[in-house]
Amino acid sequence: MPQTVKGVIARSKGAPVELTDIVIPDPGPGEVVVDVKSCGVCHTDFHYREGGISDDFPFLLGHESAGVVAEVGEGVTNVEVGDFVILNWRAVCGECRACKRGEPWYCFNTHNAEQKMTLTDGTELTPALGIGSFAEKTLVAAGQCTKVDESDPAVVGLLGCGIMAGIGSAINTGEVTRGKSVAVIGCGGVGCAAIAGSRLAGAGTIIALDIDDAKLEWAKDLGATDTINTRGMSEDEVVAAIQERTNGFGADVVIDAVGRPETWRQAFYGRDLAGTVVLVGVPTPEMELSVPLLDVFGRGGKLKSSWYGDCLPERDFPMLVDLYEQGRLPLEKFVTERIGIGDVEEAFEKMGEGKVLRSVVVL
Ligand SMILES: NC(=O)c1ccc[n+]([C@@H]2O[C@H](COP(=O)([O-])OP(=O)(O)OC[C@H]3O[C@@H](n4cnc5c(N)ncnc54)[C@H](O)[C@@H]3O)[C@@H](O)[C@H]2O)c1
Ligand SMILES: [Zn+2]
Ligand SMILES: [Zn+2]
Repeated sequence: MPQTVKGVIARSKGAPVELTDIVIPDPGPGEVVVDVKSCGVCHTDFHYREGGISDDFPFLLGHESAGVVAEVGEGVTNVEVGDFVILNWRAVCGECRACKRGEPWYCFNTHNAEQKMTLTDGTELTPALGIGSFAEKTLVAAGQCTKVDESDPAVVGLLGCGIMAGIGSAINTGEVTRGKSVAVIGCGGVGCAAIAGSRLAGAGTIIALDIDDAKLEWAKDLGATDTINTRGMSEDEVVAAIQERTNGFGADVVIDAVGRPETWRQAFYGRDLAGTVVLVGVPTPEMELSVPLLDVFGRGGKLKSSWYGDCLPERDFPMLVDLYEQGRLPLEKFVTERIGIGDVEEAFEKMGEGKVLRSVVVL
């Protein structure tokens, strides 16, 4: 029987979000209904509300979640009822050209549940990132559920999006390893996670750059060895400040966790010869970049983007949960506050004011 539960929707562009009744269908073949236990408030949810991602209103918001499998549809074999899972937006297909060549973390054909969740009048909802988990229950594709050891859902659920993107931008995309120097520009949830990931990988120098001192304090707590407040600094000054802390050369890996042309250029020039630039912050459509092509050639190295931290949920989520449980990855520090499902709008405001790394809805 379809079930009616509470969920947080964005009904129209820019309007405050609403807690309302939503209808969850029975799981069809390959689908799973999950009892949601937690859901982090991510910038992407806010972008959906603002109409910045698509016009497919109404959206069922929320996507950084852990929960328990409540029902499984026909043919589901990877999880069973009662499993503790983290939800992901990379259910790999196994058949696209990326998957076939052995690079499933780039999968070009990830999938979601086929059936739609609806409002009680039958209006179809668009779930954020194919998840939609600011809700008591949600319907996803089985591949979007990754079974992990039972843990604090509010903490490990964050691996479902931004924190995984940040950690992965360092360890997967940036290939940070022992002794490397790393600079991270922008120390929100994603940048701080890149710092935590760099420390986990054994980086030597980890330089945090932000325009907000409060964020730099969080960055230090998560493993930054140096912090630089770049507010009001020119590009040359930012680059010089990175070089001063890396024997005059620049960092081996620079991660742009803001995603603006000026921060990307700081990353590009703040990097040592043959170093790596990782873009994990998401630019907006009107942004353009201008760099002398000779500098691109002359400096060598790698210029990469990091989609979801190039993560493979089946590989990375269980490993990171283990490291958290062993006390080697302080994921709990990303949870600034635990809130109710009715508090999402207020959490957007705090996010806008830079007061939180993550607000997490607990259910
Ligand atoms: N690639 C992915 O798969 C992926 C996944 C999730 C989020 N993201 C993106 O990562 C970015 C960061 O997300 P977040 O949740 O950490 O956001 P956030 O707003 O919490 O953090 C952004 C940080 O950047 C700082 N900042 C802003 N302008 C700056 C500048 N010019 N120089 C230095 N610092 C500056 C802010 O003070 C803030 O601390 C966003 O663009 C988000 O959309 C990407
Ligand atoms: Zn694929
Ligand atoms: Zn997110």
